[in-house]
Amino acid sequence: MNGNAPRTVLGALLAGAVAAAVGMLAGPADAATTLGASAAQTGRYFGAAIAAGRLGDATYTRILSTEFNSVTPENEMKWDATEPSQGRFTYTNGDRILNQGLAQGAKVRGHALLWHQQQPSWAQSLSGSALRSAAINHVTQVATHYRGQIYAWDVVNEAFADGGSGGRRDSNLQRTGNDWIEAAFRAARAADPAAKLCYNDYNTDGINAKSTGIYTMVRDFKSRGVPIDCVGFQSHLGTSISGDYQANLQRFADLGVDVQITELDVAQGGNQANVYAAVTRACLAVSRCTGITVWGIRDSDSWRTGENPLLFDNSGTKKAAYTSVLNALNAGGSTPPSDPPPSSTTPPPSGAGCTATVSLNSWTGGYVATVRVTAGSSALTGWTVTVALPSGSAVTSTWSATNSGNTFRNADYNGQLAAGASTEFGFQGTGTGPAAAPTCQAG
Ligand code: G3I
Repeated sequence: MNGNAPRTVLGALLAGAVAAAVGMLAGPADAATTLGASAAQTGRYFGAAIAAGRLGDATYTRILSTEFNSVTPENEMKWDATEPSQGRFTYTNGDRILNQGLAQGAKVRGHALLWHQQQPSWAQSLSGSALRSAAINHVTQVATHYRGQIYAWDVVNEAFADGGSGGRRDSNLQRTGNDWIEAAFRAARAADPAAKLCYNDYNTDGINAKSTGIYTMVRDFKSRGVPIDCVGFQSHLGTSISGDYQANLQRFADLGVDVQITELDVAQGGNQANVYAAVTRACLAVSRCTGITVWGIRDSDSWRTGENPLLFDNSGTKKAAYTSVLNALNAGGSTPPSDPPPSSTTPPPSGAGCTATVSLNSWTGGYVATVRVTAGSSALTGWTVTVALPSGSAVTSTWSATNSGNTFRNADYNGQLAAGASTEFGFQGTGTGPAAAPTCQAG
């Protein structure tokens, strides 16, 4: 007994010392061992772009379901994939990505409703109002199909020019009028009010002319009440990262939008692990940076052939870059603000017909009105809304409806509403906006 006692005390002391040493090496007691779980500790997601064609690959799906708590379809929700001929929508592969994400409890980022690339050939041959109408219809249809299931949509992708102009890129969409982006965001909001709506672009990985052009657009959208919730920074990076990468994210966040790293990949080189860690730390330091997505899983899955830019090698083994990201995530960071409760939905009116409500964003001499049209107890095949305007007020532009003076008719893509369903249109005017509730008539 006497001989055992000191050994027991010594054993306990040693065990405590070992535990303390292990604790120090392991970092915080709750250090997570996968990217998604680690990001979740600060309220963020860590996602990957995935391809429907690879979901039969066992190594790929094992890594996907173990490591990631967000998915983005690499190609399957783009315009050419979802509307190969006009008005004929195909969601098979997009739905496979959605279902994979939902099955593993991941967020699903929608990518991308409108883009100058990967347009179906029929859209490439359109222009003017025919293209505008087709584009807005596309946004409405696809966002409606996925309504309530998408965490964030890249509503518009890559609409700004490279180089020093800070202006828009020329494209068939841009040639339909400078307001095509806001029209797309308004249509997306009307179709899926729960999804965060993002603008997404590349070469915006620091404060430069292109990111400043986008910054100016987002500031303008926020000031006029155009619905935008987030900005995606693709972050297809070379062997270094700009010193103002984090400051750039922060200036957008300060406008009142979330920021997300949406397509991260980094050229392999001596610095790859460091660049990955720096991007991760920058996101963690910006409280409104809600998550990071890498653009593929293994190097062999990447669009950047030969650059080995991802976190897993061709055989699915974790690279040094993986470890540096996991360590950076486990070091913690600021916590994103929790989302506001979902906006309350207006109960459908009890009678047939329809109702309309208006919300205003006014400034001295002008306003933007957003009108919500809700079908009554019967489905609608069309609607007409009349808005009482004070004298001196004139409508200068309208979206998602056509107007004659203060009377607005549905566009060809948003006249059909199921009983109780809603849609939105808007108009801009001079003078003072409507003070009374609009009236709505079916037909
Ligand atoms: O599926 C067809 C296949 O049937 C055909 O045999 C083959 C022949 O080329 O093409 C296959 O489609 C390719 C598709 O990727 C799927 O692999 C397309 O040609 C090819 O153009 C397409 O590339 C995609 C690219 O966007 C299109 O511009 C990449 O996978 C995708 O990673 C890339 O993603 C973009 C983001 O959407 C936006 N930001 C930049 C990023 C990288 O370019």
